[in-house]
Amino acid sequence: MPPTLAFDVYGTLIDTHGLIPLLGEMAGEETAPVLSRIWREKQLEYSFRRALARDYVTFATCTRQALDYACATLGVRLTPAERDSLLERYRTLPAFPEVPGALARLQDSGARLYAFSNGTREAVEQLLRAAGIRDAFLDVVSVDAVSSFKPDPAVYAHFLAQAGARADRTWLVSGNPFDVLGADHAGWHTVWVQRDAAQVFDPWGHEPEQVVSDLNGLTRLATTWG
Ligand code: 2OP
Repeated sequence: MPPTLAFDVYGTLIDTHGLIPLLGEMAGEETAPVLSRIWREKQLEYSFRRALARDYVTFATCTRQALDYACATLGVRLTPAERDSLLERYRTLPAFPEVPGALARLQDSGARLYAFSNGTREAVEQLLRAAGIRDAFLDVVSVDAVSSFKPDPAVYAHFLAQAGARADRTWLVSGNPFDVLGADHAGWHTVWVQRDAAQVFDPWGHEPEQVVSDLNGLTRLATTWG
């Protein structure tokens, strides 16, 4: 059976900080990177809390509420039009530069490529199409179908069922350490995409099997998947 590669989307294929230039126009250049960081961290925190509390809303709702939280924290007052524009642009965030070329090479390696995300199918389809990479994937698997979020074990089980894959032949490829640990807990192989050399992996006593600095590193590893 060929290996199955499950690619996380936000923060792995797609740059969640791709709106910093626009945030700079709205909130000032100095504030923009901080605002972007708080927005992303709060978005993820909301997803964890929603899953734990069994109080599911879509990832887009987590994103919207996190933007409001980040702006309130920093005293940034957006006009309704600016807020709408940011949320609209979040639906077409850019891919990291090496992603299209690396995915094309991985397709040639014989592996089965899937996108696997907290985002709804509709949101992820739009994002991948806008970035010109949708055709690299056999399908999009969204946590939305099980009304929970990563790293709930239910979402990794849902992925295997949807992809017709076995845990011991499936690799999660993710830039998010919490996702890598969730997949490890579910018995998958794991690759951490450490885009920032200063980023620390959670010291939970479980290391990622492979660490790459971007998806080009992954194409080099493809020879070891057997
Ligand atoms: C994703 O599921 C975790 O945000 C990340 O796409």
